Amino acid sequence: MAKKLFIKTHGCQMNVYDSARMADVLAPLGYAKTETPDDADMVIINTCHIREKAAEKVFSELGHWRIRKHAAQARGADVTIAVAGCVAQAEGKELINRAPFVDLVIGSQAYHQLPELLARAERARVKGTGGRGILATDFPPDSKFDHLPDEISAAPGPVGYLAVQEGCDKFCTFCVVPYTRGAEYSRPAEAILREADRLVATGVQEIALLGQNVNAWHGEGPDGKSWSLGRLLRVLNDRFAKTHPHLRWRYTTSHPREMGDDLIAAHGDVAGLMPFLHLPIQAGSDAVLKAMNRGHRAGDYLRVVEKLRAARPDIALSGDFITGFPGETDADFEATLRVVREARFAAGYSFKYSNRPGTPGSLLGKQVPDAVSSERLQALQALLQELSGDFNRACEGRELDVLFQKPGRQNGQLIGYSQYMQAIYVTDAALKIGDRLPVTIAGGYANSLAGEIVRREAA
Ligand code: SAH
Ligand code: SF4
Ligand code: F3S
Repeated sequence: MAKKLFIKTHGCQMNVYDSARMADVLAPLGYAKTETPDDADMVIINTCHIREKAAEKVFSELGHWRIRKHAAQARGADVTIAVAGCVAQAEGKELINRAPFVDLVIGSQAYHQLPELLARAERARVKGTGGRGILATDFPPDSKFDHLPDEISAAPGPVGYLAVQEGCDKFCTFCVVPYTRGAEYSRPAEAILREADRLVATGVQEIALLGQNVNAWHGEGPDGKSWSLGRLLRVLNDRFAKTHPHLRWRYTTSHPREMGDDLIAAHGDVAGLMPFLHLPIQAGSDAVLKAMNRGHRAGDYLRVVEKLRAARPDIALSGDFITGFPGETDADFEATLRVVREARFAAGYSFKYSNRPGTPGSLLGKQVPDAVSSERLQALQALLQELSGDFNRACEGRELDVLFQKPGRQNGQLIGYSQYMQAIYVTDAALKIGDRLPVTIAGGYANSLAGEIVRREAA
């Protein structure tokens, strides 16, 4: 009988990708995915370490799994508990100590070793050593990508994720990612093209190329030379242009320092590339950007935005922002608000600075009081909402290209995403997940748009 695998994914899209790949690695061992935790034989909690709150979640969640495991053991069965992802990588030892019922702690670069590690966990259990779980958080010398299986065990649905790059050498002073994901690595183009073929064969209609610094991708091309992301996008687009002309492409997450002219030009000449870019800036004050070690000034960012708009006038931009970075003054924060207005973001994700152990930021004096960070966060969010409201209202009456991806709250309602990555709500009995249709926008609001289907032919 198939064993049931439950995966709980936190954090970014890279974790969503990794969770799918872990399921692929375990499928040949007879594990089939389940959506119900109660009948799981194995659980993988794929964790995120980016902010304190995210990391804390793991321990409360593990409490529930301990109870499930003990209940299973009382029935003579068991639940294998594995913790993966960035908390596993960063706090593996502490996890093993604080949660001895965890069978396996597996770091972000070791997923291809899952079968072997599970076998070891199993042997330890049979021996009844009652010892602690297995810790696998070394960075292996060769890339996990070379060892992950080719087969995709379950069709991903309308959107496929494809990791092309992993890791980060940028070392922003607030961020744990360079420590949890390791050094920047670019997969070779051939491997990416083959994985794209497999994704397209499952019927995806949109592919998101992923990486912590995706636009720093400089993988080896089939010609043995180092390619740029712009070139990769052109080749991918051309590869499927005849057979799958409606495929659309995006990439995330990008760093402003890596927005080269070739990549910017791709926004003008790659037909399938969505007119959308998530390009975090974090702050608008040059002093804060410097203390964050971002390696660019606010003006550099705005120049990139200008060039992007020259290449693709309707491009929608979103950004990430941090309020209350150590030393941030009222004047610094005002500069963030100014940049946000100037760049005219269509959407934004803003966070209160979270002091992360082990990062250079954690050692800085001049921590900003929590109440001040919160107040700034509120002001920034209000501005971002105003701007996204403006952007979405400007779409009223237009026809957008919408890919429907999940059910809405109301009966017969589905949520889809436009080419600008706006959430579009449509209530229409004939609509199904995976439909890709032109939707006429009836109302634009800060966080969503209401649409109706006027024509039924493909977008
Ligand atoms: N690799 C991406 C995303 C990193 S994490 C990039 O370089 O942009 C996603 C977002 O979380 C970041 O853009 C940042 O805004 C936020 N973030 C990262 N560390 C944080 C911290 N210590 N406190 C608050 N927000 C943080
Ligand atoms: Fe973190 Fe900065 Fe790297 Fe992004 S670029 S992952 S924010 S260190
Ligand atoms: Fe979180 Fe790791 Fe992604 S810390 S945001 S899961 S890279």
